[in-house]
Amino acid sequence: MKFHPARLIARKRDGGVLASDEIQDLVAGVVDGSLGDAQLGAFLMAVCCNGMTAEETAALTLAMRDSGQVLRHPKVARPKIDKHSTGGVGDKVSLLLAPLVAAAGVAVPMVSGRGLGHTGGTIDKLASLPGYRTDLGPAEFQHVLEQCGYAMASPSAAIAPADKRMYATRDVSGTVESIPLITSSILAKKLAEGIDGLVMDVKFGRAAFMVQEHDAVALMESLCSVGRAAGIRMAALLTDMDHPLGRAIGNSLEVVEVLHALDGGCPDDLREVTLALGVEMLLLAGVASDAEAARQTLVRLWHDGVVHRVFRHNLELQGGDLRVLDDPTRLGRAPHVVAVKAQRTGFVADVDPRVLGDVVVDLGGGRRQPADAVDPLVGLVCVHSLGDPVHAGDAIAFVHARTSLAAKDAAVRVLAAMPIGDDKRRRAALVKRRMA
Ligand code: URA
Repeated sequence: MKFHPARLIARKRDGGVLASDEIQDLVAGVVDGSLGDAQLGAFLMAVCCNGMTAEETAALTLAMRDSGQVLRHPKVARPKIDKHSTGGVGDKVSLLLAPLVAAAGVAVPMVSGRGLGHTGGTIDKLASLPGYRTDLGPAEFQHVLEQCGYAMASPSAAIAPADKRMYATRDVSGTVESIPLITSSILAKKLAEGIDGLVMDVKFGRAAFMVQEHDAVALMESLCSVGRAAGIRMAALLTDMDHPLGRAIGNSLEVVEVLHALDGGCPDDLREVTLALGVEMLLLAGVASDAEAARQTLVRLWHDGVVHRVFRHNLELQGGDLRVLDDPTRLGRAPHVVAVKAQRTGFVADVDPRVLGDVVVDLGGGRRQPADAVDPLVGLVCVHSLGDPVHAGDAIAFVHARTSLAAKDAAVRVLAAMPIGDDKRRRAALVKRRMA
C-alpha cells in the first residue's frame, strides 16, 4: 500500500488511532527523509494534542528502536539491567549506581545522554575525568561490560536515529511535553542497549522535567506499561527534585563528590536514592530475594570497598587516569572560588535547584543550545542543606567560576536561592512512590 503521510497525520489530528504498520511507515519516513519537516512537525503536534493509545505508543517505541542498531550481548551471562533518570540538578547517581549494582552481579550496559538546560548529563560528568572515553564502539562496549560488569557510553549515531530527528523537531515545535513522545524517546534508546530490564527514576519538583506529581505519575505508568509491552522487566521510582541531590552541581565537582562517596563520604540524600534504585535493579535482575536482602548486599559491597574496585576497573578499561582515585585534585580547579556567606543566624530555609541549575549553566557548566561547549570545572558546592543550622558569616556554598565577575554574579544568585530562616524545615520523602 502506498504511504500517504498527510492522511495519517489528519487522522491523528482528528483523534483517530493509527495501526502499527502505519506508525512504522511514518518512522521509516523520519529516517529516510521522505517525511518532510512540516509533516513531522504536524504529526508531533497531533500526537501532543490528542495523545496515543498504549498500543500506538508501544508501536512507535519499537519502530524508533528498530530505526537503528540494537545491541546484543551474547557473551554476558549476567542479567542486563539499566537505570534511567528523567533528569535533575546534582544528579550523579549513575556514576555510583552502575559499579554498585555491577558489584552485586548485574550487568549494566549504560548509554547515557549529555545535559541540556538546567539538568546535567552523565556523559558531561564523565568527560571531566582525564582520559575517560565514552565513544565506545559496540565491540569495545561489550568487552568493557564483560570485564567489569558495566560500561558507560554516549549514544552512537547508529542508536535510534529516528529519535534524533524527532527530538530536534520537538524542541523547536513546542511538542516536548507529551507523555507518548517522551515515553517512546526514552525507551527506544534504552531498548536498543539490549537490556532485560529497566528501572526508571522519574523525578518531580521544581527542577524536574515534570514539575507536578500527577504528570510524573502518568509518565511512570506510561514507561512501565510500554516497556513491558516491548518485552522487558520494568520498575519505577518517583523521586524528589525539589532540592538538589548531593552537594555539588557542575561536572568535575560532581565527579569529585562521587570519588569521595565511593569511599564512604556520601551525602545522605545521594546515598538513599542510589540505594533505593539499586534495590530495584537487583530485584528486577532476580539476584536478591527481597528488598531488605538487596539493600543489605549493596550496603556491604559499598562499605567493604568492592564498589570502589569495580569503579577502578571500569576507569582503567575506559582509559581514565587512575591517579584521580587517590588525588581528586587532578581533575583541576576553576580559577576563581568564592564563598557565599550566610548573612544571618538561623536555618537554611530553601535550596532552590532550578535557580542553582541555571546559575551553573550561566557559569558555563551546562548548555543553552545543543552545540554549546561545556566548562568542566565551574559549578557550585553547597556546604549546607535544607534545615541545617548556620551562623552569620558561615560559608553556605562555594562558587567555582572562570572569572571573578562571573563568580560575584553567581554568588548573589546563590545567596537568594539559599535563604536563611528561623524554622528548621525538613526535606520531603526522597522516594515518593514505587511502581513495580
Ligand atoms: N529524555 C529523552 O531522551 N527524551 C525525551 O523526550 C525526554 C527526556
